[in-house]
Amino acid sequence: MTKKILVTGGAGFLGSHLCERLLSEGHDVLCVDNYFTGTKDNILHLMSNPKFEVMRHDVTFPLYVEVDEIYNLACPASPVHYQFDPVQTTKTSVHGAINMLGLAKRVQARILQASTSEVYGDPEIHPQTEDYWGKVNPIGIRSCYDEGKRCAETLFFDYWRQHALEIKVVRIFNTYGPRMHPNDGRVVSNFIVQALKGQDITIYGDGQQTRSFCYVDDLIEAMIRMMGSHSDFTGPVNIGNPGEFSMLQLAELVIRMTSSKSKIAFRPLPQDDPKQRRPDITVARNELSWEPTIVLETGLEKTISYFKAMI
Ligand SMILES: NC(=O)c1ccc[n+]([C@@H]2O[C@H](COP(=O)([O-])OP(=O)(O)OC[C@H]3O[C@@H](n4cnc5c(N)ncnc54)[C@H](O)[C@@H]3O)[C@@H](O)[C@H]2O)c1
Repeated sequence: MTKKILVTGGAGFLGSHLCERLLSEGHDVLCVDNYFTGTKDNILHLMSNPKFEVMRHDVTFPLYVEVDEIYNLACPASPVHYQFDPVQTTKTSVHGAINMLGLAKRVQARILQASTSEVYGDPEIHPQTEDYWGKVNPIGIRSCYDEGKRCAETLFFDYWRQHALEIKVVRIFNTYGPRMHPNDGRVVSNFIVQALKGQDITIYGDGQQTRSFCYVDDLIEAMIRMMGSHSDFTGPVNIGNPGEFSMLQLAELVIRMTSSKSKIAFRPLPQDDPKQRRPDITVARNELSWEPTIVLETGLEKTISYFKAMI
């Protein structure tokens, strides 16, 4: 059945892939973005599709449109960008959630929130399960993002309890792929760009801190399944790749795959940087019959080709 679907943050990295996927399934897609970190380049290839519509709009202001489903992705995701204007980051998460939930309530739309593993902060349990409440600094430099996203989750669950809204909350762990911003400080894009330019690969700390990396196509599949899941399943559900790699391993892999002459340079660890991060995806496996299918080397290959063409 063709639906009218709103994607906020649709010109960003994940949003553009989501719009593309929804259009390929024949839906009418309304992409809303203020182009803070997203670009028209990301969605240029979709513009000729008559089912695709783009609106420049900031989600901190109310929006009145008629839609069947809402994917709420608007929010800068990398520390460089979300710390640039931290007050606006909190507003985007919190006011943005209020405005999109208000819209969903008015038009009786199902609404999905792109939440984040950052709601777990610097976790004391490993891997993280959805019932873990997190260890988050409320007054640090990452708090605008972490607490903003936590408050957005609160709003989603209160709209569900108070107004019986159909909500879906996914907690996204590090995702990578083509259309990531080349210099937003996220580790995969950073390493690839540095390796391709033959610059030093910067590792913060001793490189033993670990992360898991999910390829974008796997993540989009999970989002679509989540939106289509039975109405009493709200999440939150962890979406990510449980494969765990240290920063040092990733740097070495990228150097090898790009045949780069780059050396590794170590720098001090930034404040509140989590030491370990890995999703427990049992809930996603059980409720969505989902698990990632794309291994790191395959995903890196596609991402390296993208950045090669760009650079
Ligand atoms: N990529 C990841 O690894 C990851 C991990 C966890 C959570 N997420 C979440 O997924 C969503 C998308 O992330 P991304 O990686 O595509 O980041 P991105 O920065 O590429 O995309 C965010 C998009 O939102 C837009 N935006 C920002 N503020 C806005 C506002 N006030 N009004 C309208 N549009 C606004 C930006 O211009 C951009 O197009 C974000 O909510 C992010 O928190 C991403």
